[in-house]
Amino acid sequence: MSQSPAAEAARRRTFAIISHPDAGKTTLTETLLLSGGAIRAAGQVRARGENRRTRSDWMKIERERGISVSASVMTFDHDGMMFNLLDTPGHEDFSEDTYRTLTAADAAVMVLDAAKGIEPQTLKLFEVCRLRDIPIVTFINKMDREAQDPLELLDEIASKLALDPAPLFWPAGSGGRFKGMLDLRSRQFLPFERSATEREQSGHPPAVPADGAAIDAYLSPGERDELLESTELVLGASPAFDPQSFLEGHMTPVFFGSALRRFGVEQLLDGLGAYAPPPRPVAAVRSGTETHVAPGDAEVSGFVFKVQANMDPNHRDRIAFLRLCSGRFQRGMKLKVQNTGRQLSVNAPIMFFASDRELAEEGFAGDVIGIPNHGVLRVGDSLSESGALRFAGLPNFAPEILQRVRVKDPLKAKHLRRALEGLAEEGVTQLFRPQIGSDFIVGAVGQLQFEVMADRLASEYQLEVVFETSPYAEARWVSGTDADLEAFSAAYRTAMAEDIDSQPVFLSKSGWETGYVAERYPALSFARTRERG
Ligand code: G4P
Repeated sequence: MSQSPAAEAARRRTFAIISHPDAGKTTLTETLLLSGGAIRAAGQVRARGENRRTRSDWMKIERERGISVSASVMTFDHDGMMFNLLDTPGHEDFSEDTYRTLTAADAAVMVLDAAKGIEPQTLKLFEVCRLRDIPIVTFINKMDREAQDPLELLDEIASKLALDPAPLFWPAGSGGRFKGMLDLRSRQFLPFERSATEREQSGHPPAVPADGAAIDAYLSPGERDELLESTELVLGASPAFDPQSFLEGHMTPVFFGSALRRFGVEQLLDGLGAYAPPPRPVAAVRSGTETHVAPGDAEVSGFVFKVQANMDPNHRDRIAFLRLCSGRFQRGMKLKVQNTGRQLSVNAPIMFFASDRELAEEGFAGDVIGIPNHGVLRVGDSLSESGALRFAGLPNFAPEILQRVRVKDPLKAKHLRRALEGLAEEGVTQLFRPQIGSDFIVGAVGQLQFEVMADRLASEYQLEVVFETSPYAEARWVSGTDADLEAFSAAYRTAMAEDIDSQPVFLSKSGWETGYVAERYPALSFARTRERG
């Protein structure tokens, strides 16, 4: 029997993992799910991926390039807490999708490869988290391999991220000499057993007091002295962990371990349960008035942060991922879309339990449910029982590459338009319709997005397309009074376009031109992004 919406929300932790490719995100996900008891044997995250890949054609790119292009959600219970792990694709070309997913997370786990420290993609994703005030937990992975000096890793976090690292554990050695770690709060030593295999639930010996004789079974006197000395050093050099400072985004608790050898992951999970924030009140507008929606509010509400189409090519299904913000969601309930006023009966919502997709009977703030639909729901939509709530929209990222798209068979032009609109609604790419001419301009943040798009247009819509360079370098959302807008559009008709929501966009040929028009038309605003919803 579930408790009140406020109590249910309080035991939820909705988080994402951010990392540079190869740091161990997939392995950590798998190990977290194992620790949470959600899957029984290691290898299932990948195996599940394989099944999906054989079923769905468009993931060919994933297979060929060995990258993950679709974000999903996995839910598991651990120790009375409910964790929702939002999986974010790691490849840099997919940052837009990743960024959107982060808007639905309350915390992030930053995985660092102990030998490499902070890598470019980690930094990029970290910046998004900081922008959105998402608290970060650090997991230094691959301690079973030769690692950098952990003190240097902490220095790097402090200097590159301007974040105070507060280690909760301290490692004894690394690589072949990795012996375990000291829990700095309880002063218990957790021995690392190299021969513990990936498949064992608890292959590592139980913790022993650091200050007693039992530790001698795991560390030589020299190693013990070294550990105690470096512990003194780090405790002297680092600030004590302050949960409030962490929640405010100034401090990160640091964990160490080996995702592959299932070491330190249980501690990470406990740390998330103890310190990561439960769902917080979300800023929204109700009938023109600014408000905050609290997780315990009676009205069910949420926002769509991702839409995935055609997960199964035999069904033209779309799944909208709704992050719940308040109330007790129940299957069969009716929700209204704020901007269109359309009402949906949510009869077959999906919860993404790690082992499989399941029908959701109930959900609370922090949970993510999948709503199958036929294109009614779009990224950025706000849903609620009254239909009166609008959450601050999700950003559209400024496209960095603008290309013209043409279908090889001219008879299929109409078909192309529908397909492009569908993919743009999903947020795969952005679509601009110039006021003059019949070509479409597609905007993306990375080249790989065009490849995914071409692949999906071919396999899902039977459309062979070519992308050609366009004369445009930048897209800017133009806003101002109607009269100012009209005057500008008249002067720049050939460069004006509309996005899929019919909002005016100026397609500029260069950064210089953008600066020039912005100076000439000071009453107008030329925005790099537009908040949807
Ligand atoms: P990603 O999702 O962040 O891209 O990384 P992934 O988990 O796929 O891990 C990248 C590689 O690092 C994998 O090796 C994985 O086995 C290895 N790895 C992850 N965590 C650890 C760890 O704690 N210790 C050690 N020693 N290795 C780790 P691979 O050889 O590229 O792939 P695979 O053949 O093992 O699948």
